[in-house]
Amino acid sequence: MKLYNPRKGSATISYAGVLEKLEIFRSTLQWANKLERPAIQKLLHQCNHLRDEILQLSHRERFVEASTIHAKNKNASDAERRQALVERSFVFEGVFGENPKLLEALEVAEKAAPTDLPVLIDGESGTGKELMAKVVHANGNRADEAYISVNCGAIPESLLESELFGHNKGAFTGATHDRKGKFESANGGTIFLDEIGELPLTSQVKLLRVLQSHEIQRVGSDQIKQVDARVVAATNKDLRQLCQEGTFREDLLYRLNVIHVTLPPLRERQDEIPLLYQYFCDEAAERMHRQPIKMTKRLNDFLLTYQYPGNIRELSNIIYRLTCLSTGIADLEHLPEAIRPDKKGVNKDKYTDSNKITFEVGSLTDYKKTASDRAEKQFLQEGLREVSGKVAELARRLDMNRSHLQTVLKKHGIQSKTFRPKAKESKV
Ligand SMILES: Nc1ncnc2c1ncn2[C@@H]1O[C@H](COP(=O)(O)OP(=O)(O)O)[C@@H](O)[C@H]1O
Ligand SMILES: [Mg+2]
Repeated sequence: MKLYNPRKGSATISYAGVLEKLEIFRSTLQWANKLERPAIQKLLHQCNHLRDEILQLSHRERFVEASTIHAKNKNASDAERRQALVERSFVFEGVFGENPKLLEALEVAEKAAPTDLPVLIDGESGTGKELMAKVVHANGNRADEAYISVNCGAIPESLLESELFGHNKGAFTGATHDRKGKFESANGGTIFLDEIGELPLTSQVKLLRVLQSHEIQRVGSDQIKQVDARVVAATNKDLRQLCQEGTFREDLLYRLNVIHVTLPPLRERQDEIPLLYQYFCDEAAERMHRQPIKMTKRLNDFLLTYQYPGNIRELSNIIYRLTCLSTGIADLEHLPEAIRPDKKGVNKDKYTDSNKITFEVGSLTDYKKTASDRAEKQFLQEGLREVSGKVAELARRLDMNRSHLQTVLKKHGIQSKTFRPKAKESKV
């Protein structure tokens, strides 16, 4: 796949130039009686070229101009940017702090919301992609219309078409009555296509057709219906890589990726942890009719520095678990066993109220030891993430004995299986 490079040659492209090429392209087709394969190849090549140029123009329009507006406001601090979002009555069903990467994602989503442009959200599992899709819906003109969510990875391939586009009675065994598909249900509103990278190639072709023509056809029906559904898609996969591997259509990627929002993993916005932690402590207490939990200092320290491979969903699950299991003061033993750290060398009798997050430093030697342990743990977690949880591969890369590596992982309470790609998440 030719990777799209917005900088390359963009200075020479203009709308007039693109239009001229389009005219040449059109008249070639208009006057051709019959096209041989080489001529088709040539036209296809020109067409691809034209698409790249239009993408570059659209990039310039969407981002370069947007960043000029941003530049006028470049003296705004992150705190002011956050405040500005709040003052603009930005609808967001959660909390956000002043992390610049997250603020950027929210600002892009806010700008995209009132348009009908497709939005593609990417980020690791649990980073808030679905929440962001709701932001796009709730801050746009369709907020009072339907919001329909479809998990493309959870529907068997044989049912996917009927699920998305509906079916008529008798279309297949078991189709006992006419049924509306998700696109029809989302008419006038938004359809959220979650885990779009899981969509089989056959369904990708059909989806592309709907995005191009805004028309659907129920399975087993000849009738064509117009639908007006705004599409927001999400993925935790690298779709460009899937295109290169041939499992995702490049033309579909371009259709979906008009506005692109990337959500950073929680380990890259650790400054947001205290805020989220407080939010979930209060939410869990309210739902379980309890007081917000109190916890020992070592548990508190753990929660502030843990790497959260499952991101915000994992943090939320941990807090709900602690609220449920602890009577009195929550401690390391209330953590899920898979992530429970070694308790040695940590002061047991201090605790902090979950409303106050405090840092305390013991002796320098203890502090160094803890820091070094933490670094070793983070290093191993990063390594496992890179090799998708394969211990043998990590041992090879680190030139370490495999059983020694297993022992070190165990010491840190790291479970390699949690880094395997298909590991199922649990939700409270
Ligand atoms: N900024 C946030 N504030 C509060 N809760 C959040 C925030 N971001 C994500 N969450 C919560 O974390 C969980 C995972 O988010 P979700 O949108 O389902 O992630 P993803 O779709 O990326 O897997 C959900 O329960 C969601 O409500
Ligand atoms: Mg999700």
